[in-house]
Amino acid sequence: MAGNYLSDIHNTNYEDDYLKIKLNSDNLINITGRETESLNGRWNFGADWYDTCRRAKWFKEIRSNHEGELQPLDWDWEAWDRIKVPAAWNTERKELSYFEGSGIYTRTFRYIRRRKDERLFLRFEGSAYRTSVFLNKTFIGTHDGASTPFNVDISDIAEIDNRIVITVDARRSPERIPMDNTDWYNYGGIYRDVLLVRTPKIHIKDWFIRLAPDSGYSKIRADISVSGKEDEDITGTVRLTIKELNIDADIPVVNGTARSDITVKENMLNLWSPENPKLYDAAIYFGDDIVFDRIGFREIRVSGHEILLNGKKIFLKGICVHEDHHLLGKNTNEDVIRSTIRDLKELNGNYLRLAHYPHDMRFARIADEEGVLLWEEIPVYWAVAFNNPDTYADAENQLSELVLRDRNRASVILWSVGNENADTEDRYAFMSNLVKKARELDDSRLVSAACLLDHKELVIRDRLADNLDVIGINEYYGWYDPDFEKLPKILSNSNPGKPVLICEFGACARSGQRGTEHDLFTEDKQKKLYEQQIAVFRKCKFIAGITPWILYDFRCPRRLHRYQEGYNRKGLIDADRKTRKLAFYTLQNFYKEI
Ligand code: GCU
Repeated sequence: MAGNYLSDIHNTNYEDDYLKIKLNSDNLINITGRETESLNGRWNFGADWYDTCRRAKWFKEIRSNHEGELQPLDWDWEAWDRIKVPAAWNTERKELSYFEGSGIYTRTFRYIRRRKDERLFLRFEGSAYRTSVFLNKTFIGTHDGASTPFNVDISDIAEIDNRIVITVDARRSPERIPMDNTDWYNYGGIYRDVLLVRTPKIHIKDWFIRLAPDSGYSKIRADISVSGKEDEDITGTVRLTIKELNIDADIPVVNGTARSDITVKENMLNLWSPENPKLYDAAIYFGDDIVFDRIGFREIRVSGHEILLNGKKIFLKGICVHEDHHLLGKNTNEDVIRSTIRDLKELNGNYLRLAHYPHDMRFARIADEEGVLLWEEIPVYWAVAFNNPDTYADAENQLSELVLRDRNRASVILWSVGNENADTEDRYAFMSNLVKKARELDDSRLVSAACLLDHKELVIRDRLADNLDVIGINEYYGWYDPDFEKLPKILSNSNPGKPVLICEFGACARSGQRGTEHDLFTEDKQKKLYEQQIAVFRKCKFIAGITPWILYDFRCPRRLHRYQEGYNRKGLIDADRKTRKLAFYTLQNFYKEI
Protein backbone atom coordinates (compact mmCIF):
# COMPACT_ATOMS: atom_id res chain seq x y z
CA MET A 1 0.00 0.00 0.00
CA ALA A 2 1.15 3.55 -0.59
CA GLY A 3 2.95 4.90 2.44
CA ASN A 4 2.05 8.24 3.90
CA TYR A 5 3.05 10.76 1.21
CA LEU A 6 4.70 12.98 3.83
CA SER A 7 6.89 10.15 5.14
CA ASP A 8 8.70 10.00 1.79
CA ILE A 9 9.67 13.65 1.79
CA HIS A 10 11.01 13.73 5.34
CA ASN A 11 13.12 10.58 5.24
CA THR A 12 16.61 11.95 4.60
CA ASN A 13 18.19 8.50 5.17
CA TYR A 14 16.05 6.82 2.49
CA GLU A 15 19.15 5.67 0.59
CA ASP A 16 20.41 3.43 3.42
CA ASP A 17 17.93 0.73 2.44
CA TYR A 18 19.41 0.57 -1.05
CA LEU A 19 22.98 0.19 0.22
CA LYS A 20 22.22 -2.95 2.20
CA ILE A 21 22.67 -5.22 -0.83
CA LYS A 22 25.86 -4.29 -2.71
CA LEU A 23 26.47 -5.82 -6.15
CA ASN A 24 30.25 -6.18 -6.30
CA SER A 25 33.19 -8.32 -7.39
CA ASP A 26 32.25 -11.12 -4.94
CA ASN A 27 29.36 -12.15 -7.15
CA LEU A 28 30.96 -11.28 -10.50
CA ILE A 29 30.89 -14.20 -12.95
CA ASN A 30 33.11 -14.47 -16.01
CA ILE A 31 30.80 -14.49 -19.04
CA THR A 32 33.52 -14.75 -21.72
CA GLY A 33 32.45 -17.18 -24.41
CA ARG A 34 28.98 -17.65 -22.92
CA GLU A 35 25.76 -17.29 -24.89
CA THR A 36 23.97 -14.13 -23.72
CA GLU A 37 20.58 -12.54 -24.48
CA SER A 38 20.64 -8.78 -24.96
CA LEU A 39 18.29 -6.39 -23.17
CA ASN A 40 19.69 -3.49 -25.22
CA GLY A 41 17.15 -1.37 -27.04
CA ARG A 42 14.87 1.56 -26.27
CA TRP A 43 13.81 1.68 -22.62
CA ASN A 44 11.25 4.11 -21.14
CA PHE A 45 13.22 6.81 -19.35
CA GLY A 46 12.46 9.49 -16.75
CA ALA A 47 14.92 12.16 -15.53
CA ASP A 48 14.45 11.84 -11.79
CA TRP A 49 16.06 15.04 -10.47
CA TYR A 50 15.26 14.37 -6.80
CA ASP A 51 15.70 10.57 -6.77
CA THR A 52 11.98 10.27 -6.01
CA CYS A 53 11.72 6.75 -7.45
CA ARG A 54 13.84 5.48 -4.58
CA ARG A 55 12.46 7.92 -1.98
CA ALA A 56 8.80 7.10 -2.71
CA LYS A 57 9.47 3.49 -3.83
CA TRP A 58 7.83 3.89 -7.24
CA PHE A 59 9.29 0.49 -8.21
CA LYS A 60 6.68 -1.13 -5.92
CA GLU A 61 4.04 0.22 -8.30
CA ILE A 62 1.56 0.90 -5.48
CA ARG A 63 -1.51 2.42 -7.12
CA SER A 64 -3.97 2.67 -4.19
CA ASN A 65 -3.99 3.60 -0.52
CA HIS A 66 -4.80 1.44 2.55
CA GLU A 67 -8.51 1.86 1.82
CA GLY A 68 -8.04 0.65 -1.76
CA GLU A 69 -8.69 4.09 -3.25
CA LEU A 70 -6.72 4.97 -6.34
CA GLN A 71 -3.83 7.39 -5.67
CA PRO A 72 -2.58 10.19 -7.95
CA LEU A 73 0.69 8.75 -9.27
CA ASP A 74 3.85 10.71 -10.07
CA TRP A 75 5.27 8.02 -12.34
CA ASP A 76 3.99 6.54 -15.59
CA TRP A 77 6.40 4.01 -17.06
CA GLU A 78 4.81 3.40 -20.48
CA ALA A 79 4.03 7.08 -21.08
CA TRP A 80 7.66 8.13 -20.80
CA ASP A 81 9.71 8.68 -23.97
CA ARG A 82 12.19 5.95 -24.68
CA ILE A 83 15.95 6.30 -24.61
CA LYS A 84 18.64 4.14 -26.19
CA VAL A 85 20.37 1.52 -24.03
CA PRO A 86 23.35 1.40 -24.11
CA ALA A 87 23.99 5.14 -24.25
CA ALA A 88 24.89 7.94 -21.87
CA TRP A 89 21.77 10.14 -21.59
CA ASN A 90 23.91 13.24 -22.13
CA THR A 91 24.21 12.55 -25.86
CA GLU A 92 20.66 11.21 -26.31
CA ARG A 93 18.68 14.31 -25.39
CA LYS A 94 19.84 17.93 -25.61
CA GLU A 95 18.13 18.84 -22.33
CA LEU A 96 20.13 16.10 -20.59
CA SER A 97 23.58 17.26 -21.76
CA TYR A 98 24.51 18.39 -18.26
CA PHE A 99 22.05 16.22 -16.27
CA GLU A 100 23.86 14.62 -13.31
CA GLY A 101 20.87 13.49 -11.28
CA SER A 102 19.18 10.13 -11.17
CA GLY A 103 17.78 8.56 -14.33
CA ILE A 104 15.04 5.90 -14.25
CA TYR A 105 15.12 3.21 -16.93
CA THR A 106 12.32 0.67 -17.28
CA ARG A 107 11.19 -2.05 -19.68
CA THR A 108 9.52 -5.45 -19.68
CA PHE A 109 10.99 -8.70 -20.91
CA ARG A 110 9.89 -12.32 -21.25
CA TYR A 111 11.85 -15.23 -19.81
CA ILE A 112 11.13 -18.83 -20.75
CA ARG A 113 13.16 -21.21 -18.59
CA ARG A 114 15.00 -23.78 -20.69
CA ARG A 115 16.22 -26.09 -17.94
CA LYS A 116 14.52 -26.90 -14.66
CA ASP A 117 17.29 -25.69 -12.37
CA GLU A 118 19.03 -23.12 -14.58
CA ARG A 119 20.32 -19.92 -13.02
CA LEU A 120 19.52 -16.56 -14.65
CA PHE A 121 21.90 -13.63 -14.23
CA LEU A 122 21.30 -10.00 -15.12
CA ARG A 123 24.58 -8.44 -16.30
CA PHE A 124 25.61 -4.80 -16.76
CA GLU A 125 28.88 -4.02 -18.55
CA GLY A 126 28.91 -0.40 -17.37
CA SER A 127 26.47 2.05 -15.75
CA ALA A 128 27.43 5.46 -14.36
CA TYR A 129 27.50 5.73 -11.30
CA ARG A 130 25.26 4.33 -8.52
CA THR A 131 22.92 1.76 -10.10
CA SER A 132 19.98 0.30 -8.15
CA VAL A 133 18.22 -2.68 -9.72
CA PHE A 134 14.53 -3.52 -9.17
CA LEU A 135 12.81 -6.54 -10.72
CA ASN A 136 9.08 -7.28 -10.46
CA LYS A 137 8.66 -4.66 -7.67
CA THR A 138 11.57 -6.11 -5.67
CA PHE A 139 14.82 -4.36 -4.76
CA ILE A 140 17.71 -6.55 -5.99
CA GLY A 141 20.86 -4.58 -5.19
CA THR A 142 23.02 -1.51 -5.81
CA HIS A 143 26.34 -1.17 -7.63
CA ASP A 144 28.83 1.69 -7.32
CA GLY A 145 31.27 2.55 -10.07
CA ALA A 146 30.84 3.84 -13.60
CA SER A 147 33.17 1.66 -15.64
CA THR A 148 33.21 -1.96 -14.47
CA PRO A 149 30.83 -4.89 -14.95
CA PHE A 150 28.45 -6.32 -12.37
CA ASN A 151 25.77 -9.00 -12.35
CA VAL A 152 23.10 -10.38 -10.08
CA ASP A 153 21.38 -13.76 -9.84
CA ILE A 154 17.66 -13.14 -10.55
CA SER A 155 16.66 -16.82 -10.87
CA ASP A 156 14.27 -16.77 -7.91
CA ILE A 157 12.56 -13.49 -8.85
CA ALA A 158 12.24 -13.80 -12.63
CA GLU A 159 8.78 -14.75 -13.96
CA ILE A 160 7.68 -15.36 -17.53
CA ASP A 161 6.67 -11.66 -17.82
CA ASN A 162 8.99 -9.27 -16.03
CA ARG A 163 9.31 -5.57 -15.42
CA ILE A 164 12.74 -4.19 -14.66
CA VAL A 165 13.31 -0.73 -13.16
CA ILE A 166 16.81 0.70 -12.86
CA THR A 167 17.77 3.97 -11.19
CA VAL A 168 21.17 5.41 -12.12
CA ASP A 169 22.52 8.26 -9.98
CA ALA A 170 25.30 10.07 -11.88
CA ARG A 171 26.02 12.75 -9.28
CA ARG A 172 29.66 13.57 -8.65
CA SER A 173 30.71 13.42 -5.01
CA PRO A 174 33.95 14.01 -3.05
CA GLU A 175 33.51 10.48 -1.62
CA ARG A 176 33.22 8.68 -4.95
CA ILE A 177 35.83 7.15 -7.33
CA PRO A 178 36.41 9.40 -9.28
CA MET A 179 35.69 12.26 -6.94
CA ASP A 180 33.75 15.38 -7.93
CA ASN A 181 36.62 17.21 -9.66
CA THR A 182 38.13 15.64 -12.78
CA ASP A 183 39.38 16.75 -16.19
CA TRP A 184 36.84 14.90 -18.28
CA TYR A 185 33.08 14.92 -18.99
CA ASN A 186 30.73 13.36 -16.43
CA TYR A 187 28.53 11.08 -18.55
CA GLY A 188 25.59 9.35 -16.86
CA GLY A 189 23.40 6.34 -17.47
CA ILE A 190 23.46 2.74 -18.69
CA TYR A 191 26.07 3.27 -21.39
CA ARG A 192 27.31 -0.34 -21.90
CA ASP A 193 25.43 -3.61 -22.66
CA VAL A 194 22.68 -5.07 -20.46
CA LEU A 195 22.51 -8.86 -20.84
CA LEU A 196 20.76 -11.96 -19.54
CA VAL A 197 23.04 -14.96 -18.95
CA ARG A 198 21.76 -18.48 -18.30
CA THR A 199 23.92 -21.08 -16.56
CA PRO A 200 23.33 -24.53 -15.08
CA LYS A 201 22.68 -24.50 -11.33
CA ILE A 202 26.29 -25.56 -10.71
CA HIS A 203 28.38 -23.49 -13.12
CA ILE A 204 31.87 -22.26 -13.90
CA LYS A 205 32.19 -18.89 -12.15
CA ASP A 206 35.64 -17.68 -13.17
CA TRP A 207 39.03 -18.75 -14.54
CA PHE A 208 42.54 -17.31 -14.83
CA ILE A 209 44.86 -19.05 -17.31
CA ARG A 210 48.39 -17.76 -17.87
CA LEU A 211 52.05 -18.76 -17.92
CA ALA A 212 52.98 -20.13 -14.51
CA PRO A 213 55.17 -17.48 -12.83
CA ASP A 214 58.97 -18.12 -12.92
CA SER A 215 58.57 -21.30 -14.92
CA GLY A 216 60.20 -20.28 -18.19
CA TYR A 217 57.78 -20.75 -21.01
CA SER A 218 56.84 -24.38 -20.54
CA LYS A 219 54.22 -24.33 -17.84
CA ILE A 220 50.66 -22.95 -17.82
CA ARG A 221 48.86 -22.19 -14.56
CA ALA A 222 45.08 -22.60 -14.53
CA ASP A 223 42.92 -21.35 -11.66
CA ILE A 224 39.23 -22.19 -12.10
CA SER A 225 36.32 -21.62 -9.73
CA VAL A 226 32.83 -23.12 -9.82
CA SER A 227 29.75 -22.15 -7.84
CA GLY A 228 26.14 -23.04 -7.25
CA LYS A 229 23.15 -21.26 -5.79
CA GLU A 230 24.45 -21.23 -2.23
CA ASP A 231 28.12 -21.53 -1.40
CA GLU A 232 27.77 -25.26 -0.96
CA ASP A 233 31.04 -27.17 -0.87
CA ILE A 234 31.40 -28.16 -4.53
CA THR A 235 33.77 -30.97 -5.44
CA GLY A 236 34.31 -32.86 -8.68
CA THR A 237 36.60 -32.56 -11.68
CA VAL A 238 36.92 -29.64 -14.09
CA ARG A 239 38.33 -30.27 -17.56
CA LEU A 240 40.53 -27.77 -19.45
CA THR A 241 41.35 -28.31 -23.12
CA ILE A 242 43.71 -26.32 -25.34
CA LYS A 243 43.83 -28.62 -28.33
CA GLU A 244 46.66 -26.82 -30.18
CA LEU A 245 48.91 -27.45 -27.17
CA ASN A 246 47.76 -31.05 -26.69
CA ILE A 247 46.30 -30.01 -23.33
CA ASP A 248 43.36 -32.02 -22.05
CA ALA A 249 43.60 -31.83 -18.27
CA ASP A 250 41.22 -33.09 -15.59
CA ILE A 251 41.72 -30.93 -12.50
CA PRO A 252 40.21 -31.82 -9.12
CA VAL A 253 37.81 -29.25 -7.65
CA VAL A 254 38.01 -28.80 -3.89
CA ASN A 255 35.72 -26.32 -2.10
CA GLY A 256 34.75 -24.85 -5.44
CA THR A 257 38.26 -24.11 -6.71
CA ALA A 258 40.79 -25.92 -8.91
CA ARG A 259 44.44 -25.10 -9.63
CA SER A 260 46.89 -26.88 -11.87
CA ASP A 261 50.30 -26.15 -13.40
CA ILE A 262 50.34 -27.90 -16.77
CA THR A 263 53.63 -28.59 -18.52
CA VAL A 264 53.80 -27.81 -22.22
CA LYS A 265 56.38 -29.50 -24.43
CA GLU A 266 59.59 -27.45 -24.83
CA ASN A 267 59.29 -24.73 -27.54
CA MET A 268 55.72 -25.78 -28.31
CA LEU A 269 54.25 -22.56 -26.94
CA ASN A 270 54.02 -19.78 -29.52
CA LEU A 271 54.34 -16.73 -27.27
CA TRP A 272 52.03 -13.72 -27.68
CA SER A 273 53.63 -10.39 -28.61
CA PRO A 274 52.70 -7.25 -30.60
CA GLU A 275 54.55 -8.71 -33.58
CA ASN A 276 52.96 -12.13 -33.09
CA PRO A 277 49.58 -11.84 -31.30
CA LYS A 278 49.06 -15.60 -31.11
CA LEU A 279 45.87 -16.70 -29.30
CA TYR A 280 44.91 -20.23 -28.30
CA ASP A 281 41.35 -21.58 -28.11
CA ALA A 282 40.59 -22.89 -24.64
CA ALA A 283 37.50 -24.69 -23.37
CA ILE A 284 36.52 -25.45 -19.79
CA TYR A 285 33.96 -28.12 -18.86
CA PHE A 286 32.29 -28.76 -15.53
CA GLY A 287 29.14 -30.89 -15.17
CA ASP A 288 26.64 -29.53 -17.73
CA ASP A 289 28.58 -26.27 -18.14
CA ILE A 290 31.09 -25.29 -20.80
CA VAL A 291 32.84 -21.95 -21.46
CA PHE A 292 35.30 -20.83 -24.14
CA ASP A 293 38.09 -18.28 -24.21
CA ARG A 294 40.93 -17.24 -26.54
CA ILE A 295 44.15 -16.77 -24.59
CA GLY A 296 47.60 -15.44 -25.45
CA PHE A 297 50.56 -16.56 -23.36
CA ARG A 298 53.36 -14.09 -22.67
CA GLU A 299 55.55 -12.98 -19.80
CA ILE A 300 55.94 -9.37 -18.66
CA ARG A 301 58.47 -8.47 -15.97
CA VAL A 302 60.99 -5.84 -14.99
CA SER A 303 64.76 -6.13 -14.66
CA GLY A 304 66.64 -3.07 -13.40
CA HIS A 305 65.44 -0.13 -15.47
CA GLU A 306 64.06 -2.37 -18.21
CA ILE A 307 60.67 -3.88 -19.02
CA LEU A 308 61.02 -7.36 -20.52
CA LEU A 309 58.38 -8.95 -22.72
CA ASN A 310 59.10 -12.68 -23.07
CA GLY A 311 62.61 -12.01 -21.80
CA LYS A 312 63.40 -9.29 -24.34
CA LYS A 313 63.74 -5.58 -23.51
CA ILE A 314 60.84 -3.54 -24.91
CA PHE A 315 60.28 0.22 -25.22
CA LEU A 316 56.58 1.07 -24.83
CA LYS A 317 55.76 3.36 -27.76
CA GLY A 318 52.39 4.60 -26.64
CA ILE A 319 49.86 7.34 -26.23
CA CYS A 320 46.95 8.03 -23.86
CA VAL A 321 43.33 7.79 -24.93
CA HIS A 322 40.04 8.72 -23.23
CA GLU A 323 36.76 6.93 -23.92
CA ASP A 324 35.09 10.03 -25.39
CA HIS A 325 33.87 10.23 -28.97
CA HIS A 326 32.83 13.43 -30.74
CA LEU A 327 29.66 11.79 -32.11
CA LEU A 328 29.01 8.84 -29.75
CA GLY A 329 30.00 10.59 -26.50
CA LYS A 330 30.79 7.90 -23.93
CA ASN A 331 29.69 5.06 -26.17
CA THR A 332 32.10 2.98 -28.15
CA ASN A 333 31.92 0.05 -30.51
CA GLU A 334 34.19 -2.33 -32.35
CA ASP A 335 34.75 0.07 -35.28
CA VAL A 336 35.83 2.91 -32.96
CA ILE A 337 38.20 0.60 -31.07
CA ARG A 338 39.73 -0.76 -34.27
CA SER A 339 40.14 2.74 -35.75
CA THR A 340 41.85 3.89 -32.53
CA ILE A 341 44.29 1.00 -32.91
CA ARG A 342 44.82 1.88 -36.58
CA ASP A 343 45.73 5.45 -35.55
CA LEU A 344 48.16 4.06 -32.93
CA LYS A 345 49.79 1.87 -35.57
CA GLU A 346 50.01 4.82 -37.95
CA LEU A 347 52.04 6.46 -35.15
CA ASN A 348 54.28 3.32 -35.20
CA GLY A 349 53.05 2.73 -31.63
CA ASN A 350 52.61 -0.58 -29.79
CA TYR A 351 50.98 0.53 -26.51
CA LEU A 352 48.01 2.50 -25.16
CA ARG A 353 47.23 3.99 -21.77
CA LEU A 354 43.46 3.58 -21.41
CA ALA A 355 42.88 6.65 -19.21
CA HIS A 356 41.52 7.27 -16.57
CA TYR A 357 39.03 4.42 -15.90
CA PRO A 358 38.34 0.91 -17.25
CA HIS A 359 37.40 1.14 -20.93
CA ASP A 360 34.89 -1.08 -22.73
CA MET A 361 35.65 -4.80 -22.27
CA ARG A 362 36.01 -5.22 -26.05
CA PHE A 363 39.14 -3.04 -26.07
CA ALA A 364 41.40 -5.64 -24.43
CA ARG A 365 39.89 -8.44 -26.54
CA ILE A 366 40.58 -6.56 -29.76
CA ALA A 367 44.02 -5.50 -28.49
CA ASP A 368 44.75 -9.24 -27.93
CA GLU A 369 44.00 -9.86 -31.61
CA GLU A 370 45.78 -6.76 -32.91
CA GLY A 371 48.93 -7.07 -30.79
CA VAL A 372 48.61 -3.87 -28.72
CA LEU A 373 49.92 -3.60 -25.15
CA LEU A 374 47.64 -1.90 -22.60
CA TRP A 375 47.89 0.06 -19.34
CA GLU A 376 44.52 -0.16 -17.60
CA GLU A 377 43.54 1.89 -14.55
CA ILE A 378 40.85 2.79 -12.05
CA PRO A 379 39.91 6.46 -11.52
CA VAL A 380 41.65 7.06 -8.19
CA TYR A 381 42.29 10.50 -9.57
CA TRP A 382 43.54 13.67 -7.80
CA ALA A 383 42.04 14.53 -4.39
CA VAL A 384 40.19 11.30 -3.51
CA ALA A 385 38.74 10.94 0.03
CA PHE A 386 41.68 8.77 1.13
CA ASN A 387 40.50 8.81 4.76
CA ASN A 388 37.05 7.38 3.96
CA PRO A 389 36.72 3.58 4.32
CA ASP A 390 33.65 3.49 2.03
CA THR A 391 35.69 5.27 -0.65
CA TYR A 392 38.45 2.68 -0.26
CA ALA A 393 35.93 -0.16 -0.52
CA ASP A 394 34.58 1.42 -3.72
CA ALA A 395 38.09 1.79 -5.20
CA GLU A 396 39.09 -1.74 -4.24
CA ASN A 397 35.90 -3.14 -5.71
CA GLN A 398 36.34 -1.28 -9.01
CA LEU A 399 39.94 -2.57 -9.18
CA SER A 400 38.77 -6.12 -8.45
CA GLU A 401 36.04 -5.97 -11.10
CA LEU A 402 38.54 -4.65 -13.66
CA VAL A 403 41.18 -7.30 -12.87
CA LEU A 404 38.65 -10.14 -12.83
CA ARG A 405 37.22 -8.92 -16.15
CA ASP A 406 40.54 -8.57 -18.01
CA ARG A 407 43.19 -10.75 -16.36
CA ASN A 408 42.94 -13.37 -19.16
CA ARG A 409 43.87 -10.72 -21.73
CA ALA A 410 47.51 -10.94 -22.88
CA SER A 411 47.39 -7.33 -24.15
CA VAL A 412 46.97 -5.97 -20.61
CA ILE A 413 50.46 -5.72 -19.11
CA LEU A 414 49.90 -3.24 -16.32
CA TRP A 415 47.34 -2.18 -13.71
CA SER A 416 47.51 1.38 -12.45
CA VAL A 417 46.02 2.26 -9.06
CA GLY A 418 46.00 6.04 -9.25
CA ASN A 419 46.80 9.32 -10.93
CA GLU A 420 48.51 12.40 -9.49
CA ASN A 421 47.50 12.00 -5.84
CA ALA A 422 49.07 14.28 -3.21
CA ASP A 423 51.15 12.29 -0.72
CA THR A 424 49.61 11.93 2.76
CA GLU A 425 49.59 9.02 5.23
CA ASP A 426 45.99 8.25 4.21
CA ARG A 427 46.86 8.29 0.51
CA TYR A 428 49.88 6.06 1.08
CA ALA A 429 47.83 3.48 3.02
CA PHE A 430 44.92 3.63 0.57
CA MET A 431 47.06 3.10 -2.53
CA SER A 432 49.50 0.59 -1.00
CA ASN A 433 46.46 -1.53 -0.15
CA LEU A 434 45.20 -1.23 -3.72
CA VAL A 435 48.60 -2.45 -4.96
CA LYS A 436 48.34 -5.43 -2.62
CA LYS A 437 44.84 -6.20 -3.90
CA ALA A 438 45.99 -6.09 -7.53
CA ARG A 439 48.82 -8.53 -6.78
CA GLU A 440 46.50 -10.80 -4.82
CA LEU A 441 44.16 -11.12 -7.81
CA ASP A 442 46.90 -11.24 -10.43
CA ASP A 443 50.45 -12.53 -9.95
CA SER A 444 51.37 -12.06 -13.60
CA ARG A 445 51.33 -8.33 -14.36
CA LEU A 446 53.09 -5.09 -13.48
CA VAL A 447 51.54 -2.57 -11.10
CA SER A 448 52.04 1.17 -11.44
CA ALA A 449 50.54 4.60 -10.79
CA ALA A 450 51.08 8.15 -12.03
CA CYS A 451 53.41 9.18 -9.21
CA LEU A 452 54.70 12.47 -7.86
CA LEU A 453 57.73 14.59 -8.67
CA ASP A 454 59.43 16.81 -6.13
CA HIS A 455 59.18 20.01 -8.15
CA LYS A 456 61.37 21.95 -5.72
CA GLU A 457 64.24 19.49 -5.29
CA LEU A 458 63.75 18.51 -8.95
CA VAL A 459 63.80 14.75 -8.43
CA ILE A 460 61.42 11.81 -8.85
CA ARG A 461 60.21 11.25 -5.29
CA ASP A 462 57.13 9.30 -4.24
CA ARG A 463 57.26 6.73 -1.46
CA LEU A 464 54.42 4.86 -3.16
CA ALA A 465 57.00 3.92 -5.82
CA ASP A 466 58.59 1.38 -3.43
CA ASN A 467 55.41 -0.71 -3.83
CA LEU A 468 55.32 -0.47 -7.62
CA ASP A 469 57.03 -2.40 -10.40
CA VAL A 470 57.08 0.62 -12.69
CA ILE A 471 56.97 4.34 -11.82
CA GLY A 472 54.54 6.38 -13.89
CA ILE A 473 55.33 10.08 -14.22
CA ASN A 474 53.05 12.84 -15.54
CA GLU A 475 55.01 16.00 -16.32
CA TYR A 476 54.05 19.14 -18.19
CA TYR A 477 57.35 20.96 -18.46
CA GLY A 478 57.15 23.35 -21.39
CA TRP A 479 53.40 23.75 -20.86
CA TYR A 480 52.03 24.28 -17.33
CA ASP A 481 55.60 24.90 -16.14
CA PRO A 482 57.27 26.97 -18.87
CA ASP A 483 60.74 26.22 -17.50
CA PHE A 484 61.46 23.21 -19.68
CA GLU A 485 65.02 22.86 -18.37
CA LYS A 486 63.66 21.39 -15.13
CA LEU A 487 62.87 18.13 -16.94
CA PRO A 488 66.44 17.11 -17.83
CA LYS A 489 67.52 18.21 -14.34
CA ILE A 490 64.87 15.98 -12.71
CA LEU A 491 65.90 12.99 -14.79
CA SER A 492 69.61 13.48 -14.14
CA ASN A 493 68.94 13.97 -10.40
CA SER A 494 66.93 10.75 -10.20
CA ASN A 495 67.99 7.15 -9.89
CA PRO A 496 64.67 5.33 -9.54
CA GLY A 497 66.16 1.79 -9.64
CA LYS A 498 63.17 0.59 -11.68
CA PRO A 499 61.64 1.42 -15.04
CA VAL A 500 59.94 4.82 -15.45
CA LEU A 501 57.10 5.43 -17.88
CA ILE A 502 56.41 9.03 -18.82
CA CYS A 503 52.66 8.49 -18.72
CA GLU A 504 51.73 12.06 -19.58
CA PHE A 505 53.23 15.13 -21.19
CA GLY A 506 51.72 17.44 -23.79
CA ALA A 507 50.42 20.83 -24.83
CA CYS A 508 47.10 22.17 -26.05
CA ALA A 509 46.77 23.08 -29.72
CA ARG A 510 43.62 23.95 -31.58
CA SER A 511 43.96 22.19 -34.91
CA GLY A 512 44.64 24.74 -37.62
CA GLN A 513 45.87 27.34 -35.12
CA ARG A 514 49.33 28.37 -36.39
CA GLY A 515 52.00 30.77 -35.07
CA THR A 516 55.52 30.67 -33.66
CA GLU A 517 56.81 27.85 -31.44
CA HIS A 518 56.21 30.19 -28.48
CA ASP A 519 52.53 30.91 -29.17
CA LEU A 520 50.24 29.03 -26.76
CA PHE A 521 47.46 26.84 -28.27
CA THR A 522 49.21 26.63 -31.65
CA GLU A 523 50.25 23.47 -33.45
CA ASP A 524 53.72 24.97 -33.75
CA LYS A 525 54.10 25.24 -29.97
CA GLN A 526 52.81 21.68 -29.49
CA LYS A 527 55.24 20.35 -32.10
CA LYS A 528 58.19 22.18 -30.52
CA LEU A 529 57.28 20.76 -27.11
CA TYR A 530 57.24 17.22 -28.50
CA GLU A 531 60.64 17.78 -30.10
CA GLN A 532 62.08 19.06 -26.80
CA GLN A 533 60.55 16.23 -24.74
CA ILE A 534 61.73 13.53 -27.14
CA ALA A 535 65.27 14.96 -27.19
CA VAL A 536 65.40 14.58 -23.39
CA PHE A 537 63.92 11.05 -23.37
CA ARG A 538 66.56 9.88 -25.82
CA LYS A 539 69.25 10.54 -23.22
CA CYS A 540 67.54 8.91 -20.25
CA LYS A 541 68.36 5.23 -19.65
CA PHE A 542 65.56 4.50 -17.16
CA ILE A 543 62.67 5.65 -19.32
CA ALA A 544 61.12 2.40 -20.60
CA GLY A 545 58.25 3.97 -22.49
CA ILE A 546 56.05 7.02 -23.01
CA THR A 547 52.36 7.76 -23.43
CA PRO A 548 51.97 11.44 -24.36
CA TRP A 549 48.72 13.13 -23.40
CA ILE A 550 46.68 12.40 -25.64
CA LEU A 551 45.61 10.85 -28.97
CA TYR A 552 42.33 12.76 -29.51
CA ASP A 553 40.93 16.06 -28.23
CA PHE A 554 38.15 15.22 -25.76
CA ARG A 555 35.16 16.89 -24.04
CA CYS A 556 36.07 18.65 -20.80
CA PRO A 557 33.64 21.06 -19.10
CA ARG A 558 36.42 22.96 -17.29
CA ARG A 559 38.23 23.95 -20.52
CA LEU A 560 36.51 27.24 -21.38
CA HIS A 561 39.18 29.24 -23.22
CA ARG A 562 38.17 30.40 -26.71
CA TYR A 563 40.62 27.91 -28.26
CA GLN A 564 39.22 25.03 -26.13
CA GLU A 565 35.42 25.60 -26.20
CA GLY A 566 34.70 22.81 -23.69
CA TYR A 567 37.41 20.50 -25.03
CA ASN A 568 40.83 19.52 -23.78
CA ARG A 569 42.85 20.04 -26.94
CA LYS A 570 46.10 18.22 -26.13
CA GLY A 571 45.21 15.64 -28.74
CA LEU A 572 47.57 14.85 -31.61
CA ILE A 573 44.38 14.38 -33.58
CA ASP A 574 41.41 16.74 -33.48
CA ALA A 575 38.19 15.55 -31.80
CA ASP A 576 36.96 14.73 -35.33
CA ARG A 577 39.36 11.75 -35.12
CA LYS A 578 40.65 12.66 -38.60
CA THR A 579 42.60 15.95 -38.59
CA ARG A 580 46.19 15.32 -37.53
CA LYS A 581 48.23 18.10 -35.95
CA LEU A 582 51.92 18.74 -36.71
CA ALA A 583 53.11 17.01 -33.51
CA PHE A 584 51.49 13.74 -34.68
CA TYR A 585 54.28 13.40 -37.24
CA THR A 586 56.98 14.32 -34.72
CA LEU A 587 55.95 11.40 -32.51
CA GLN A 588 55.45 9.12 -35.52
CA ASN A 589 59.03 9.70 -36.66
CA PHE A 590 60.41 9.12 -33.16
CA TYR A 591 58.59 5.79 -32.83
CA LYS A 592 59.68 4.79 -36.31
CA GLU A 593 63.34 5.17 -35.34
CA ILE A 594 63.11 3.06 -32.17
C1 GCU B 1 46.69 15.78 -15.85
C2 GCU B 1 45.65 14.69 -15.80
C3 GCU B 1 44.84 14.58 -17.08
C4 GCU B 1 44.56 15.98 -17.61
C5 GCU B 1 45.89 16.53 -18.06
C6 GCU B 1 45.72 17.98 -18.58
O1 GCU B 1 47.96 15.25 -15.68
O2 GCU B 1 46.16 13.41 -15.49
O3 GCU B 1 43.63 13.89 -16.78
O4 GCU B 1 43.62 15.96 -18.69
O5 GCU B 1 46.82 16.59 -16.98
O6 GCU B 1 45.91 18.90 -17.77
O7 GCU B 1 45.41 18.12 -19.77
